[in-house]
Amino acid sequence: MKKEKYKFIDLNYRPKNDLICLFRISPARGLSMKKAANTVALESSVGTWDKISGLSERIIKEKGAKVFSIKKDQVKIAYPVELFELKNMPSILSGIAGNVFGMKAVENLRLEDISFPKKIIKSFLGPRFGIKGIRKKLEIKKRPLIGTIVKPKLGLTSSQHAEYAYNSWKGGLDLVKSDENLTNQTFNKFKDRFKKTIKKMEKVEKETGEKKIYVENVSAETKEMIKRARFIQDNGGNCAMIDIITCGWASFQTLRNEDLDLIIHAHRAGHGMFTENPKHGMSMLTVAKIARIIGADNLHVGAIFGKMKGEKEDVINIKDEIEKQFLSKKHILNQKWYNVKPTFAVCSGGIHAGTIQKLVRVMGKDIIAQAGGGVSAHPLGVEAGAKSMRQAIDAVMKKIDLKEYAKTHKELRGAINRWGYLK
Ligand code: 3PG
Ligand code: MG
Repeated sequence: MKKEKYKFIDLNYRPKNDLICLFRISPARGLSMKKAANTVALESSVGTWDKISGLSERIIKEKGAKVFSIKKDQVKIAYPVELFELKNMPSILSGIAGNVFGMKAVENLRLEDISFPKKIIKSFLGPRFGIKGIRKKLEIKKRPLIGTIVKPKLGLTSSQHAEYAYNSWKGGLDLVKSDENLTNQTFNKFKDRFKKTIKKMEKVEKETGEKKIYVENVSAETKEMIKRARFIQDNGGNCAMIDIITCGWASFQTLRNEDLDLIIHAHRAGHGMFTENPKHGMSMLTVAKIARIIGADNLHVGAIFGKMKGEKEDVINIKDEIEKQFLSKKHILNQKWYNVKPTFAVCSGGIHAGTIQKLVRVMGKDIIAQAGGGVSAHPLGVEAGAKSMRQAIDAVMKKIDLKEYAKTHKELRGAINRWGYLK
């Protein structure tokens, strides 16, 4: 191999203000790790596959990406910040997570983590409210927030949907959310559903004296999505949900950049397509960092004890990364978040009151615990399901074991009898 082919490797390089990526590389058969790593750095920065006559050594040195660490299959690459357009996530990702994923030089490639430099971090808006802002809205200082997803996912009429929401809020839940695939179906129209449900929210706020959040799904083609978000705002709503993977990063950025006073709830449906394979794709940690920088106030991260995949340590790492301002421990790359507010970690998917005690012990109090089936399938009905979740949180806050608390709380008892409980 000619020496010039490794121009993108400099193991003595110490990054300062660069964007850093941690890749896991499996080189194509017959290629060395060095050659594969060099190709990834070249393709994602200044290069093409052959020597270009006009490409001076100076450009490569100044603007080229640099492989500065290779440890087994883990390769760290530093990208000069000038390679990227600020405030433009699609452009940033087309660079570091673009062509490289389909190159013959790599059998597999996985983007484990990105560390964004200050200049890029500061160019994005980040969450409008963040954890503090949402707690302030709800007037809840310390306890974990609880919510439900209206179930069945699809099939209810708008009136049934509103009724479900009312019973859930009444039972003590803070948030009610439409499911990620419920948008504007013929049997349950967006505007009709929203109007009916928000009326119920106003009613229940008066009755209970508690503040509530209605998470309505605006996922659609971008212009239509913005119209729906505006409709929420104009009709007394406080939160819009977007399916960030299926809508796409640009669409999510557009929603955040709009002048809207709405909490953004980010659903990650579809992430498993590229986060699941440990050798290929992009990690959920990376997805979560991108979601925070763009501006997710709430982000689904996994519930560990529910139905969705996600190793305990990984889910905790993701939660820590999106909720703290700086972390170096346990995390793969260090990240300073500067002025970007923390994102609330949402634990959702297959949980119920019986999992709450353990979930809070593992994930801490800054979480939103959401149960769909764990509320709707409660043997005593939806309101009782909601109550069982609230009772589980009360027990945790009073430091009373769930089983003990259930002796005097029939809704919690009903949930535990049906689904069991985790200590
Ligand atoms: C979600 O959107 O997180 C899921 O629909 C959760 O639903 P489940 O609690 O019934 O699993
Ligand atoms: Mg769902």
